[in-house]
Amino acid sequence: MQPDPFLPYAYEQFIKPAFPNPGTAMDLAGGIGRHAIWLARHGWQVTLVDISEVAIAKAQENAEAYRNRITFQCADAAQFKAGRSKYDVLLVFFYLERKVFPELINALRPGGVLIYKTYTELQPRLGKGPTHPMHLLKQNELLRAFSQLNVLHYEETIRDRGVAQLVARKS
Ligand SMILES: C[S@@+](CC[C@H](N)C(=O)[O-])C[C@H]1O[C@@H](n2cnc3c(N)ncnc32)[C@H](O)[C@@H]1O
Repeated sequence: MQPDPFLPYAYEQFIKPAFPNPGTAMDLAGGIGRHAIWLARHGWQVTLVDISEVAIAKAQENAEAYRNRITFQCADAAQFKAGRSKYDVLLVFFYLERKVFPELINALRPGGVLIYKTYTELQPRLGKGPTHPMHLLKQNELLRAFSQLNVLHYEETIRDRGVAQLVARKS
């Protein structure tokens, strides 16, 4: 089970230099665990949140030897309150719930890093994936939403998918 290539890239470029020792992370809407497990393999303690019991059960099975480094929470991310300054790293891949943006900023520790990648409104041009505007980022939307963080990387691309990817750090 491979992570999205943006995670290993962001890890090498931004996470490892900022956190030479593994810390704590949350993977919001983490699905069957491909990113949470990848971070756990790199020594991180990870909380995986997903609304689907089926996905959580599969993630637990997939985690194998790394299961004890992952806390699995079946919860609605839209209602999720992580608490203040809880995590060194937050991951959100292919999930968009705008209500949760302030909570993500709140949940990051000072110095903590947010990695966010999901579809943009260009995706429907490719004739696959989500089509509802609720699930599609507008141009530069992540930049605006997380403008109070320091943006380390931002890119919007339309190759095999129409996506935006952001790495941003809390002061
Ligand atoms: C496209 S999958 C992405 C999974 C994972 N982030 C990845 O990239 O492999 C979207 C995930 O969001 C979860 N999800 C949808 N609505 C949710 C909600 N309100 N709260 C938490 N998870 C949710 C789904 O169960 C699914 O696992």
